[in-house]
Amino acid sequence: MRAVTVIPGSSGTARLDEVAEPEVGLGSVVVETLAVGVCGTDVEIASGSYGWPPPGKERLILGHESLGRVVDPGPSGLAVGDNVVGIVRRPDPVPCANCAVGEFDMCTNGGYTERGIKQINGFMADRWRIEPEYAVKVDESLGELGVLLEPTTVVAKAWEHIAAIGRRSFWEPSTVLIVGAGPIGLLAALIGVQYGGDVHVLDRVTSGRKPELVEALGATYHSGPLPELGLHPDIVVECTGVAHLVRDAAEAAAPGAVVCLTGVGSPEAPGPGSRSNLATDAVLKNLVVFGSVNANRRHYYRGAQVLAKADRSWLTQLITRRVPPEAFDTALSREPDDIKVVLEFAHA
Ligand code: BGC
Repeated sequence: MRAVTVIPGSSGTARLDEVAEPEVGLGSVVVETLAVGVCGTDVEIASGSYGWPPPGKERLILGHESLGRVVDPGPSGLAVGDNVVGIVRRPDPVPCANCAVGEFDMCTNGGYTERGIKQINGFMADRWRIEPEYAVKVDESLGELGVLLEPTTVVAKAWEHIAAIGRRSFWEPSTVLIVGAGPIGLLAALIGVQYGGDVHVLDRVTSGRKPELVEALGATYHSGPLPELGLHPDIVVECTGVAHLVRDAAEAAAPGAVVCLTGVGSPEAPGPGSRSNLATDAVLKNLVVFGSVNANRRHYYRGAQVLAKADRSWLTQLITRRVPPEAFDTALSREPDDIKVVLEFAHA
C-alpha cells in the first residue's frame, strides 16, 4: 500500500513509499484512509527538526490528523463503513499517574508515544490499524470535515484548561484574543464564539479568507501591532509561538487574565523587541500563562460536539487545498493562503 514516510531527523527524506499492510499489533480495527490533514508538526518532521521513528525502524509513516472508514471492525463494536478518527497519543508504559488515569495528554515522564510523530506509524497510508479504544466514531454527516477533529481536540483541551484555571478566583471573562488565524486560531475562535465571548483574532494578513472567516463567525479581525489594538483581553489563546507576541499578549492582558500558549516557539521575528517584562506583567496582574499540548479521549468527545454545532459551510472553507498522496510534497510546503491542507486518499 502507499504511505508517506520520512526519516525523522533528516530533512528532505519524505517520499511516497510502497509499504507492507499495517502490523496487526497496532490494533484490531482496520481502517481505509479517506483524508489526512497536514499541520506545522508534519512540516517540522519533514524538515528533520522533530519526530522519532518506531523502535528498530529508520522510517516513520507520517500523519496524525486522520479520517478513515472502517473496513474490518474486529470486536470493537464499530460497523463496516463507520467514519473514524484515530487518537494520536498513547500512554507511557510505566505508566505515570496521568497516563494511568487516561490523561496521557498530561504525561509527566515523556515516555508517551504519538501516531505519526513519536515512535508509532501514523495515518498517511492507504490503510491503518488502531485499537478500538483509540478509534473515535465521527458523525457521517460531517463527511470530509471529520478530518478537522484532531486539531479541534487540541483547542478543546486548551479551552477546558482555561476554564479550569479561571476557577481559581471570581472571574467573569468576556474579551477573548486569539493570536494567529491558522487552523488552530480559527478553531479557537469558533469555540470562543460558541462560549459567548467577544472574540478578536489577530493575524498578519490584511485580506482574503482569514478575515472573512473571522467576520463570518461574528468575531472581529485585526492585523497590525498587538499593543495598538487597544484590547485588554481576559483570555488569550496564542497560536504562533512568536516570543514578542507572547510578551505583547501578556502586556495587553487584563488583570486576572489567562494566557494559553498553543504554538511552539519560533525564532524571534525582527520587530518590536522586548518591550514588556513578562514576570512583571504576570505577577502584578495575577496572570496565568500556561502551555497546552495534545488531547485525551474526553477532548475528542468535546471536539466532536464543537464540530457538530458549527456551520458546515464555515468549516468547509477551512480546507483550502486537497491534494492526492502523489503530491504530498506540495502539501508539506506552505502557500500564503493556506489554512488547512489535506491529503485525499479516497472520497469521503
Ligand atoms: C499534535 C499533538 C501532538 C503535538 C506534539 C501536534 O501537532 O496535534 O497531538 O501532541 O503535535 O507532538
